[in-house]
Amino acid sequence: MTVLVTGGAGFIGSNFVYYMLKKYPDYRVICVDCLTYAGNLSTLESALKNPNFAFYKTNICDREGIYEIFAKEKPDIVVNFAAESHVDRSIEGPEIFLRTNILGTQVMMDACREYGIKRYHQVSTDEVYGDLPLDRPDLFFTEQTPIHTSSPYSASKASADLLVMAYNRTYDLPTTISRCSNNYGPYHFPEKLIPLMIANALNDRPLPVYGKGENVRDWLYVEDHCKAIDLIIHNGTVGEVYNIGGHNEMKNIDIVKLICKKLNKPESLIRFVTDRKGHDLRYAIDPTKIHNELGWLPETRFADGIDLTIDWYLKNTDWWENIISGEYRNYYERMYGSR
Ligand code: NAD
Ligand code: DAU
Repeated sequence: MTVLVTGGAGFIGSNFVYYMLKKYPDYRVICVDCLTYAGNLSTLESALKNPNFAFYKTNICDREGIYEIFAKEKPDIVVNFAAESHVDRSIEGPEIFLRTNILGTQVMMDACREYGIKRYHQVSTDEVYGDLPLDRPDLFFTEQTPIHTSSPYSASKASADLLVMAYNRTYDLPTTISRCSNNYGPYHFPEKLIPLMIANALNDRPLPVYGKGENVRDWLYVEDHCKAIDLIIHNGTVGEVYNIGGHNEMKNIDIVKLICKKLNKPESLIRFVTDRKGHDLRYAIDPTKIHNELGWLPETRFADGIDLTIDWYLKNTDWWENIISGEYRNYYERMYGSR
């Protein structure tokens, strides 16, 4: 079996590459990634030593390049992680989000049609459902919740989902879609809440919390996401959408305070800054379908996952210090300088 993973040099994609190489030692895993600011080849250093792994530095919008890879590698399964993934950047400049997340998805599915595959899996997000009110804890996103996007990022991901469904219905492409809640864990790019707070706290820098920090996210350890995708690509029903989430809702401010406590840093580092435009209030996934149909349940409790994550950032300072010393500084200044 050959599994082609796009975006495998990013956060979740790289965790998935390692998960698959370990779980299926007889599979080939092919990674296609154009190494944007969020992609890091050093993340794949160990994978690159594995004879069952191959890496192509190619943009998913590059039709010719993608078709060449398909002709050579003949993948059985394609898992599309590649995307522009940061909401704040999409508010700053939506265009690249539309190009990569929508047109890139189209190129990947066209290649699947041209060369034939057993399964195309689209890694989507719970953000396509918009948000839930803070005062209705009884409400959750199900697969039937209408698409109702807030940011250019979520609009681009929702557009891609619609295209995937259209390719399934019109061309019989064997597709599945997963919509997961917020992930955390190793190799998480330090522009996102949890790794940003860990990196800033370790450097005794201010911890910028948007608005009042009351917004709620539903956090899932990245390995549990990988396990869910593994189940879907092997046992999921073609044409279906699966929500993935672990009923682990937390307010941003509580996450930041917890990180301060774990790192023995004072809460006086916290700064309440101007809110994100269009900021979604609450995400909360109902994972009943994937549990009932595929037997998936999250295995890592947040209390353990956050310790594993903090420990990883403490042991891998080179990885994130390299990132925050480069182009990231300009980004940080633009995003937080006058907030
Ligand atoms: P990330 O930003 O860490 O990584 C994205 C990867 O895609 C990078 O390696 C980047 O180089 C690559 N990439 C970007 N544009 C590309 C292009 N045009 N061609 C080839 N490669 C390209 O993202 P992530 O957080 O790992 O998210 C992966 C996927 O999971 C995304 O599709 C995202 O929408 C989805 N998702 C993320 C979360 C989360 O909490 N991070 C939750 C649910 C769904
Ligand atoms: O829900 C899944 C989504 O989760 C994925 O589709 C996205 O790719 C991923 O980036 C993530 O989106 P969020 O916007 O929820 O994640 P982020 O880490 O950017 O922010 C989490 C919350 O923390 C959000 O309410 C905004 C807030 N925040 C974020 C940053 C970076 C702050 O308060 N301060 C910050 O500096």
